[in-house]
Amino acid sequence: MGEKIRIGALISGGGTNLQAIIDACEDCRIDGKMAFVGSDQPGVKGLERARKHNIPSFVVEYGPFIKSYRQDPAHFALPDDFDFSEMLAKQHLFADDAPEDRVRAFFCTRAAAERRLLSEIEARGPIDLLVLAGFMRNLTPYFIDRFNTDPGNPRIINIHPAILPSFPGVDGYGDTFRYGCKVGGCTVHFIDYGEDSGPIIGQRAFPILETDTLDDIKRKGLEQEWLLYPECIQNFTRGLVKTVKMTHRLDDGQVYQRTVVTIAQPA
Ligand code: GAR
Repeated sequence: MGEKIRIGALISGGGTNLQAIIDACEDCRIDGKMAFVGSDQPGVKGLERARKHNIPSFVVEYGPFIKSYRQDPAHFALPDDFDFSEMLAKQHLFADDAPEDRVRAFFCTRAAAERRLLSEIEARGPIDLLVLAGFMRNLTPYFIDRFNTDPGNPRIINIHPAILPSFPGVDGYGDTFRYGCKVGGCTVHFIDYGEDSGPIIGQRAFPILETDTLDDIKRKGLEQEWLLYPECIQNFTRGLVKTVKMTHRLDDGQVYQRTVVTIAQPA
């Protein structure tokens, strides 16, 4: 077994994925140690889970930042190193024709909240991997670039309740159910500048029966998530997860590039 890596988690709710990760760390199915749990929501069950396992925790609420911007956008306290045009150039969350005041409000408030998040994280010492476990906020390039200091080695990962690229967004299982899918699933992926659009590390699927309710789909999906997330994290801790840029030439001479995550076989 190699050295244990330090893992931080961000959550917004019940934290059943967090629990699966904590249990896997404690059972040595992940060669890692939980360094902290951060939440954007106070009083959620995930924070209680952290306390039970003596994992340091903190809360950064986004609401007060959003309220303060709405009240007085001109005097809103932005981080010193925030550059709106840089955000605009990098981001993939809004279409090019989205109203600028809406986009500005989003990136200003999120960067201010993210500055606070970064300070809370830094106060708990260096970490090797940040896992989003039911964290219901999109991270912006402001946070991502300050955390991923080596662009070739991303280290923020997320679990999403659908087989991406289908059904990104806030209600993956709901969207799967409403579409009438025969198969549902979950995806672990690296975070990039878009919504649920980063390179895919792992996926699991489950069959959907005609009689399944939305609750059945959520239950089946979570059962798969609790297996998939620890598996992917352990592959990361063992250095088996590599992001590779591949170039393909089609028969007609066209060339296209894609970014693929490869999982090496353990030695
Ligand atoms: C999970 O289903 C997770 O995939 C989803 O929230 C749920 C959190 O459950 N995440 C997202 O939708 C992220 N966009 P949990 O708090 O019990 O782990």
